[in-house]
Amino acid sequence: MLSSTRRMGNTEQLAYCAANSLPSSAQQRWIHLQDHPLPYFVDLRHHTPYPAPTGNAQLLLDATLDATDLVLVAPLYWYSLPVHAKHYLDYWSAWLRTPHLNFREEMRGKTLWFIVVSSGDRAETKPLEETLILTARYMAMNWGGLLYGTGSRPNDIQDDAQALKQAQHFFSAADPAPDPSPTAAQPLMQKAR
Ligand SMILES: Cc1cc2nc3c(=O)[nH]c(=O)nc-3n(C[C@H](O)[C@H](O)[C@H](O)COP(=O)(O)O)c2cc1C
Repeated sequence: MLSSTRRMGNTEQLAYCAANSLPSSAQQRWIHLQDHPLPYFVDLRHHTPYPAPTGNAQLLLDATLDATDLVLVAPLYWYSLPVHAKHYLDYWSAWLRTPHLNFREEMRGKTLWFIVVSSGDRAETKPLEETLILTARYMAMNWGGLLYGTGSRPNDIQDDAQALKQAQHFFSAADPAPDPSPTAAQPLMQKAR
């Protein structure tokens, strides 16, 4: 799931480098979230059941359910996710409550990966990394890990030799689900949101 607002930027290039090492038997589907805009998300949890998804929401839902592994590919925007990626995740909240989707059960055991580029330093991506680890845990998904690169202008990533090297092994070195905040995370799991 590519979420930069520009094409062939640093994050997209880094994601291609990482995908390059996947075996040919691994099916890949690349989606630019910007190509599939979603209607404004509205919290209907406490009013009416969510309607069945249609249009782009249906497309993104189907792609999500079809995948064994979900890779969020995002530039750091204000220490957080770009709006398309955040919007997509907000829809998970609706899908969790849409009758007959069984979204929670379907997501259980899939693996969430994160590829991020920023123009600052790695430490500034830490809060977002922890956010996504908690999100994976809430969904009973596995956490694959984070691949970080640095760059500002498009193609800057090509000068980040360390990121390009790490990309070669990224998908073969899954994280053992680090625990960012054990005391805070567990109650989250149990709460119905
Ligand atoms: C709206 C916006 C917010 C940004 N916020 C940050 C930030 O908080 N920290 C940072 O280091 N870089 C920030 N950047 C820089 C991008 O993360 C950086 O240019 C990145 O390489 C863009 O990736 P892309 O080429 O895939 O779009 C921001 C860029 C934009 C456009």
